[in-house]
Amino acid sequence: MTDSDSGFFITVEGLDGSGKTTQAGLLAEALSKEGHVVKVVRDPGTTVLGERLRELLLEPTSGWELEGWAEASLFLAARIQLAHEVIYPALARGEVVVSDRYLDSNLVYQGARGVPWDGIMAMHRICQVERLPDLTLILDLPVATARGRRASDLPPDRVESESSQYHERVRAGYQAVARTFPARAVLLQADQQPGDLAMECQRVARERLAARRSD
Ligand code: TYD
Repeated sequence: MTDSDSGFFITVEGLDGSGKTTQAGLLAEALSKEGHVVKVVRDPGTTVLGERLRELLLEPTSGWELEGWAEASLFLAARIQLAHEVIYPALARGEVVVSDRYLDSNLVYQGARGVPWDGIMAMHRICQVERLPDLTLILDLPVATARGRRASDLPPDRVESESSQYHERVRAGYQAVARTFPARAVLLQADQQPGDLAMECQRVARERLAARRSD
């Protein structure tokens, strides 16, 4: 699958607590109202395999640690299934796909454990999931603000339980993604009113969709 399909692929990225799930939903709703056929997915998840791997990957471990590459390849396995079962067919039908996380989460979360980006990118090519998003909205905010927003009625999952230093590396990783892939990635300030952020996400998405249709 190449990006010669007629669909439009949007990913929403950011720290846990950045509001990306809310923003992905609001964006999908707005684009649907404008007449687009929109499919919302989450990575890891959406497929049966992806949801099972999600449980396994987010469950707290006790007495052992997941190796960086083991973690990277389990997330990748979920993404391969999601891409081939759901995302690529939707893009081939000309739909807009909005994914709550994707490849960049793999780069920055596993990158923050020392797994190299070029290795992760190479694995995506080998596994034939190299179709990049057309637009990536990165919701950027300070780690402390993101942590403060996390739902306090639920115990933290394995990744959320990581140190602030780990999450600082994740944030810096996202900023590096925006610098490395300027054609597709847009960094947005996420510590603003959700309604204002939603308007900004919609404005950027509309602009990119219009540019894509006219090229
Ligand atoms: P997330 O999608 O944020 O769901 P929730 O809001 O329900 O916690 O959780 C997924 C977690 O998995 C998140 O902490 C980031 C992490 N992750 C990776 O480490 N690597 C990946 O490739 C992906 C997709 C996610």
